[in-house]
Amino acid sequence: MADYVAAVDQGTTSTRCMIFDHGGNEIARHQLEHQQIMPRPGWVEHNPVEIWERTSAVLQTVMNGKGLCAPDLAALGITNQRETTVVWNKRTGRPFYNAIVWQDTRTDKIAAALDKDERGELIRSKAGLPPATYFSGGKIQWILENVPGVREAAERGDALFGTTDSWLLWNLTGGVDGGVHVTDVTNASRTMLMDLETLAWDDELLEIFGVPRQMLPEIRPSSDPGFYGRTLAHGPLGGEVPLSAALGDQQAAMVGQVCLAAGEAKNTYGTGNFLLLNTGEELVRSKNGLLTTVCYQFGDAKPVYALEGSIAVTGSAVQWLRDQLGIIQGASHSESLARQVPDNGGCYFVPAFSGLFAPYWRSDARGAIVGLSRYNTNAHIARATLEAICYQSRDVADAMEKDSGVTLEVLKVDGGVTANDLCMQIQADVLGVSVSRPVVAETTALGAAYAAGLAVGFWETPEELRQNWNESKRWEPSWTEEQREDGYAGWRRAVERTLDWVQV
Ligand code: G3P
Repeated sequence: MADYVAAVDQGTTSTRCMIFDHGGNEIARHQLEHQQIMPRPGWVEHNPVEIWERTSAVLQTVMNGKGLCAPDLAALGITNQRETTVVWNKRTGRPFYNAIVWQDTRTDKIAAALDKDERGELIRSKAGLPPATYFSGGKIQWILENVPGVREAAERGDALFGTTDSWLLWNLTGGVDGGVHVTDVTNASRTMLMDLETLAWDDELLEIFGVPRQMLPEIRPSSDPGFYGRTLAHGPLGGEVPLSAALGDQQAAMVGQVCLAAGEAKNTYGTGNFLLLNTGEELVRSKNGLLTTVCYQFGDAKPVYALEGSIAVTGSAVQWLRDQLGIIQGASHSESLARQVPDNGGCYFVPAFSGLFAPYWRSDARGAIVGLSRYNTNAHIARATLEAICYQSRDVADAMEKDSGVTLEVLKVDGGVTANDLCMQIQADVLGVSVSRPVVAETTALGAAYAAGLAVGFWETPEELRQNWNESKRWEPSWTEEQREDGYAGWRRAVERTLDWVQV
């Protein structure tokens, strides 16, 4: 009897493998970064081959490090950065082009054109998404139109599309020698190509982006007792392990946070921030700039939906302070630097590097630091960066309350930035609600492991998972109502300054 479940979390900046026991405790982990390729302003690419090599390496290292072998694992689940688009040749196994990352804005003209006629509304009503550079549809169109030979290969059935879950599942199950070409409902719901009600690729949507149906993976449940396939005996795990779950990383974090009932929400602080609210079997359509998305589908049960507020740049703004401005040495330094000042000194930073996502959806916005005077120092900029993470989360939390009528009482949080104590305190202050972090902050990997384990009976019911959730820390609001509203009014004025900056 296998004692563990493994998960691969293929994220925007790194790929990690984690192993969990039945109590949801972490047994082992390993993580490797991959290159961020930025050939032009606004373009962000990854090398899919590097991602596959990193995935193999983290799997092998974790297993060897703990002396585990394939029979110790009941299942393997995959979770991934969503929307990032890979198109590869099924005969050679080679990508036709680098992966175009979710943050990439090269498709801004494709996206803007959709709202000039009725196509925008069609996408909103069928896919639950506003036309934006963020999603996969425009990225596939760009590859088909700009990379020589891909359109012909796609028509012949030789070019396959996938988000990174599909790319890894295909490689893990044999690649050119019979790899499975599948994705799950949550990843498919980010393409602008799937009808949210039927959970099937939609001909009208495919036509809008000119995507041949034969490029697309089969859409499967997020947790699948029929397995997508098994790892290969000669693959990185050295044996056959059921591949029984795949979920987009934000949906996986919902499962890891056991937000499994309607009305439950979490906010994940990674490269970007993603606030999701479980709306149960009801498909709630946003009137306030949020997305409607599939939260998960377990086996043949009905799908569960979510409202989502996606924020493109939060943790990556802290990285920018380190890598581009050089004013901090690392993430934890952003906290010690920001603590040198009691407030932002009138300065606001709107990190609209990829335009603004939810709730604004403005690809014409670009980043700005406003309100500067000679009084300001690096410490104010560090503080304004942490505040930007929290104010952007308030923007989406307000939209979510309006759309759902659900008032947040406690915000469950997870992800790397939640290690920043000051940032979490500011989040409680800016929202005026308690902020709560669980013991296992790696909820994304945990959620993929839960989904994989549920499929093979390692865990029997979702309710069993609730018992594994424990709080590690809680932050309570300390600002007065006046401080909160004044601060937020300044943020909104700063956001106004970033709009209409580039022409799309
Ligand atoms: O939608 C993009 C999101 O899935 C990326 O998440 O954690 O890789 O930044 P992360």
